[in-house]
Order: sequence, then structure tokens, then C-alpha cells
Amino acid sequence: MESTGRLPEDPALPALEAIRIKGLARAIPGLELDNDPVELRLCNYVAGSRATFEARVGDRRFAVKAYAEDPAPEAQLYRRLSRMGLGGDFGARVPKLITTSRELKVLVMSWLEGRPLSHLIRRGLGERAGQLAASWLWHASRRRIRIGPPCGPGRMLYQAGVSAGVLGASDRLLGADAKAATKKLVRMQPGEKPRQLVHGTLYARHILDLGDGPGVIDWQQFGQGPVEVDAGMFLATISRLAFRHPDVADEAARAEETFMARTRGLVDARIVEWYRAAGLLHLAGSGLKTGLRRSVPTPEAHALVAEASRRAELLIGSHPILLAEAPTTFARIRSIFTARPRAPSLVHPAVPMAKVGPDLKNPGGTDGTRLR
Ligand SMILES: Nc1ncnc2c1ncn2[C@@H]1O[C@H](COP(=O)(O)OP(=O)(O)O)[C@@H](O)[C@H]1O
Ligand SMILES: [Mg+2]
Repeated sequence: MESTGRLPEDPALPALEAIRIKGLARAIPGLELDNDPVELRLCNYVAGSRATFEARVGDRRFAVKAYAEDPAPEAQLYRRLSRMGLGGDFGARVPKLITTSRELKVLVMSWLEGRPLSHLIRRGLGERAGQLAASWLWHASRRRIRIGPPCGPGRMLYQAGVSAGVLGASDRLLGADAKAATKKLVRMQPGEKPRQLVHGTLYARHILDLGDGPGVIDWQQFGQGPVEVDAGMFLATISRLAFRHPDVADEAARAEETFMARTRGLVDARIVEWYRAAGLLHLAGSGLKTGLRRSVPTPEAHALVAEASRRAELLIGSHPILLAEAPTTFARIRSIFTARPRAPSLVHPAVPMAKVGPDLKNPGGTDGTRLR
């Protein structure tokens, strides 16, 4: 018996039809389910692209992701992360890959039980959110994982340009502002290197508070790029949260402050600013980009574009460190040591040394209760 609720009808996602016709157990035999009842809850659906479910079978619980595109690279990444010690049962981790089917374009992963950092911030736990996000970046940057497409300034500029285009299609002035901000970023492009594994969409909602460390989900857009890619996107989503919920602006600021303090010595703050501005532009057009989910920009799109523009402007006035051909001393030092834990001695002399590294001994004590 299987309770699937209403599965979207979407011929682009082959797993959906298979599950509808055969049920989860027979559609994905790699799950090794008996005849126990299966309960599927749709978590997110983007027509023509992907659908994410929570599946419960007895006391087992996992995430099922049905895609339109081959998820093999993402599957390979989960395996690799697991081999590198990031797919365990405690501490910083990502979901474990349970099974995958190339034919059905589906991934099944372990369910990580925890509240997203966006919820933490809305519940007055901004500091903890900042700690957990920073802790993740330290963990990720200690692993040498060299798979995935380039995910540096080129991709961010492409995304910003796409945003400007889709925003302009429904609001000409907003589109023009987004384009102007993108041009400012073009003038100040950071270097591509040093590269490491980056998540690519490290939104606050993609990091979960697992009680004993951060859990990071949704690696579909992973790639190789500078660590600042993820730092900037995380902060862009913090800004968006504050625009959406002005009553949590102070808590969002606390998250940001803690995050920046805890990533000192790991990220270059000015390069983070560039990626943050690019991330804000990306977020301003998100949802519009597929052309399927929304036809008008989100209410906060104007604020996001204005904020991106303001930050890009500040960069133009700042020290010329961002030139692609001239990696900073900071970045060079970092590239030499990418495979090793960062030690305070690697900190650029200009950067004050304080609170370097993750504080896993004292993650701040929450109960891991989920709010859904
Ligand atoms: N492995 C997982 N553990 C816990 N929650 C998950 C997991 N995978 C997905 N989710 C939940 O489902 C939501 C959508 O999943 P996500 O992977 O971000 O899908 P999408 O690619 O559609 O953005 C997440 O925000 C989270 O609430
Ligand atoms: Mg997601």
C-alpha cells in the first residue's frame, strides 16, 4: 500500500510516472523496501525540472529527488563527500546517497533532521546560524575534491545577466537597474582561483542545524570555485531574509556578523562582497528564470537589485584587489594549503586574527526540533 498524495504529472521527470504506476518500492528496487506502507510528501516541485519528496516507510525516512536532467554528477559527489568523511552520522555532513537510477533520473538520500538556518534566524538564533554556516565552509575547504564544472565569476555573471533579462521582461526599469549593477560587477571581476568544491547555491535554507554540526543539502549546482562563492551566496540569502521579514533584520545582522568573524582567515571579505552582489542579482530573478513558476518579480526584487547595486558601487570605490590576473597574497597563500586545515598562521597579515575556525565544541545547544 502506498500513499503518494498527488504526484505532479510531468513527463520531463521520468521517476514520477514510474512511482505513480508501480509505487516507490517497485519503481526503485535499490531501496529494498518490502510491502510496508510508503508515505510521500512533496517538498518542492519545479515543473519540467525537479521534484523533491520526503518519503517515510516504517521508521525509515529519506529524500527522493526526481530530475529532468541526469543526476549522476550529483550522485558521484555525494559518494565522494562520504568517502571524505562528510557523509557520516555526526558533525558536519551531507546526505548519504542511498540509491540512484540513471534511467529514472532519481536520487534517494538519507534525510537530515534539523532546522534550516533561515528558520534559526527567524527564531532569534542568528548567532548560531552564522556559526554553523562558517563551520561548514571550514569543513568543506579542508577537503580536496576536484569534481564539478567551473563555478566562479563567469557563472555568477551569467546568472546575473539572465536575472537582468527576465526582470526586464516584466519590469523594464528594474531590468535596466539589474543590468547596470551587473556591468559594475563585470568591471571588478575577481580571479577564478584558488578553486575548491563549492556548493553553488548555499542558501540559508540549504544548511540545516543538526544539533552537532551543519548539514548541507541540495548540491545540484555544485562546482569548482573560490570559497567566497558560497560565502557570498549565503550572505545574499541573509539579506533577502531581512528584506522579506524586516522584523528579523537585527537577527540577520547578527548572523552575518558572526559568520564574517568566524570565517576570518578563510575568506577575503572584499571578494565575498563581489559574490554577494552577484548572488543578490541572481536571487532577484529567481523563480522567474524558469519562466514557469512566476510571471512577476518577487516583492523584494527591487530591494535586492538596489542592494546589489549599492554593494557593487562600494567595490568600485574600494582597493583594486579584485583583478582577475592578480590573485591576492591571501589567495595565493590559501591555494598552497588548500588540502590542509587552515591554521591561524595562514591568515593574511592585514586581517585581524580572531575566532578563527569552527567552534564545534560548543555548537550552541539546540534541540534539533524541526519547524516545517
Ligand atoms: N536530505 C534531506 N534532508 C532533509 N531535508 C531535505 C533533504 N532533501 C530535501 N529536503 C527538504 O526538501 C526541501 C527541498 O529540497 P531541495 O533539495 O532544496 O530541492 P530543490 O532542488 O527543489 O531546491 C528542502 O528545503 C528541505 O526542506
Ligand atoms: Mg533547494
